[in-house]
Amino acid sequence: MIAIEKRDSFAILTINMPDRSMNVLNDASMAALDKAFAQVIHASDITGIVLTSGKPAFVAGADLAVMEGFAAKRAKPADVMAWVSGLNREFRRIETCGKPVVGAATGTALGGGLELLLACHYRIAANEPGAQFGLPEVGLGLLPGLGGTQRLPRLIGIEAALPLILDGRPIDVQRAMALGIFNDVVARDQLIEAALDALRAGKVEASQPWDRKGFKLPGGVPMAPRNAQMFVATNGLMNAQRRDGQEAPLAILRTVFEGTPLPIEKGLTVEQRYFVKLVQGNSAQNMIRSLFFAKQNADKLTRRPKAIGPTRMTKIGLLGAGLMGSGIAQVSALAGYHVVLVDRDEAIARTACERIYTGLAAEVLKGRLKDEDMASIVKRLTPGKDYSAFADCDMVIEAILEDEGVKAEAIRAVEAVLPAHAIFASNTSALPINGLARASQRPQNLIGLHFFSPVPKMALVEVIRGDATSDETLARALDYVKATRKTPIIVNDGYGFYTTRCVDAYVREGLQLIADGADPVMIEHAGEDMGMPVGPLALADEVGIDVMDHIARFFRTQESGSWADDRHRVNPLISTIVSQGRLGRKAGKGFYLYPESGKRLDRPFIASLVISPALQGVSFETMKERLLYAQLVEAQRCQADGVVEDTVEADLGALLGWAFPSQLGGPYQAIEDIGVQAFAARCAVLVQSEGERFALAATRAPHHCEAVA
Ligand code: NAI
Repeated sequence: MIAIEKRDSFAILTINMPDRSMNVLNDASMAALDKAFAQVIHASDITGIVLTSGKPAFVAGADLAVMEGFAAKRAKPADVMAWVSGLNREFRRIETCGKPVVGAATGTALGGGLELLLACHYRIAANEPGAQFGLPEVGLGLLPGLGGTQRLPRLIGIEAALPLILDGRPIDVQRAMALGIFNDVVARDQLIEAALDALRAGKVEASQPWDRKGFKLPGGVPMAPRNAQMFVATNGLMNAQRRDGQEAPLAILRTVFEGTPLPIEKGLTVEQRYFVKLVQGNSAQNMIRSLFFAKQNADKLTRRPKAIGPTRMTKIGLLGAGLMGSGIAQVSALAGYHVVLVDRDEAIARTACERIYTGLAAEVLKGRLKDEDMASIVKRLTPGKDYSAFADCDMVIEAILEDEGVKAEAIRAVEAVLPAHAIFASNTSALPINGLARASQRPQNLIGLHFFSPVPKMALVEVIRGDATSDETLARALDYVKATRKTPIIVNDGYGFYTTRCVDAYVREGLQLIADGADPVMIEHAGEDMGMPVGPLALADEVGIDVMDHIARFFRTQESGSWADDRHRVNPLISTIVSQGRLGRKAGKGFYLYPESGKRLDRPFIASLVISPALQGVSFETMKERLLYAQLVEAQRCQADGVVEDTVEADLGALLGWAFPSQLGGPYQAIEDIGVQAFAARCAVLVQSEGERFALAATRAPHHCEAVA
């Protein structure tokens, strides 16, 4: 796993984990590192060490499989502490071994990978434009537990280090060099020579600055004026922005504040103590479970029909060159497919292609895309004149008007030219696939592929299996989604499927709160405080109030019973808003007004919508609870209806699809954390106080969904 090569009096240690595309830190690699260092530290003919990787990336980070074990509620704090302090001892041993150690980063070093580099006395990186460096632990509800919160501030100062640790977003090699994380950046093929040269030239001291007498934190201690200011401001901001259940950012702040004035060993202990606390907390467990493990399984297509061998399509057709169609065309071309983009008007398709080319050219200028890649994408992505352009496509994805009649007509016209093996996929956000299948001659080849906006950025695709969709169609569609590097979740058919229903429930509850006389500013705050990235009214404006109206009308025809009547109480309010031309951001006005710069709530307008002023004074906690429970109840109904079968996967879909608070893990995990019985009991109380829409679905109905008439 670790090769040792001797060059003059220097040892080159190359980490190259077998059967893995990336090196990670786990028990096996750490044992190998321990053994390799023991060998070279004690060899009298070795005067310096180079630590590098045999893979394109240096080290991707700690193996989260280890973390999963700890995150499990049964892990004892002492066991976690033993593990993390063991790894820390190994890192400490590297920096105190008495021989100069150069970390030579072939490429990406994240989390534990970067922390390993920080434990080296001197760092050189290969000049790889795609390489990423950073401490992303905060994104999983953790803090860097292998010295990151202690060595980085000691190396580059608190002012530069803290934002990197709190934000978690990686930086590129040039930025890392500018910040002082690297001593040098060289061409990839000169990396090892440069590392050896640094040793030969005596540039590398055999100790860390923080282990030398008289060491002072660059930029000063936490209470030095500039740093103190930053701590006060950041602390205030964190508290202001803090979402329920988010523990990691404050723990990071405290670790840096408390640990950096201490001797390094003590600082590392402070870090480990906070790390152990976070690992065992609910939010890290939930985030690791959903954002790491559930995502890994979804990306590996674990639910793909096993009997079907791997497939690869060549040409994809896109019908509809609007917002979604052009986004899907772009990601398909990037994934190596030939793509033809067709709209009802050829000029629209041509303009859309040109816009995509311009966007890609900007990526080239920013160094994010290579010139030759852009040229080949441009060659692969072309506008089409009419449906005949689909004659040699393996799949056509439609992203036209959200209207069943229009889509049905398109299905008939496209199938008339489409080869027999080809798939017809709909990007509809709510129309049942079974309804669309009625227009199809080959419903077994029809499937829903629900992308999210903006397509190039959003990671999720909700794959909707209709009653007639074949295993082969599902498998081929999943292979395509994987090739676009998106994460698929698979759901069964039903109006609004899963994600649209839950988002709609959140937004509707916000509107119901208005109708009940709650203060709109507080409604928005309640949504954010509960953990959503935006309040329900802002989200309504983004979705479009007309789209909500459309959804409301269709739900109305689909749902019956007292819970449905209660849910639909808010429909007339939605219609009123639409009738006033307040369609949301795209119209320049909705709940907010959108002047040239920024946006502001239109309070007088909202005041005119209040239906029950008698209820004014809905408490903040009640608002938060209603906005959360509206989503949880809808998720429970999706499961009861048979739309959602795999709740772990659906939890991931919630995080990626509508930014459900990641620290809660997803709606199903949230219900589990509340306790299934406690949740049901609370819903029963809400039914009494708020209405029947909080009633849980009692029995599991078959997932068959009748088409909308
Ligand atoms: P859009 O209005 O931006 O684009 C629709 C395009 O389809 C227009 O260029 C229009 O000229 C073209 N078109 C309409 N009827 C056509 C026909 N019969 N034949 C050929 N072209 C036709 O709409 P957008 O937002 O791209 O939505 C498209 C679909 O994607 C809808 O079904 C929508 O529900 C769904 N969707 C939209 C999302 C969003 O955030 N906008 C998110 C997920 C799904």
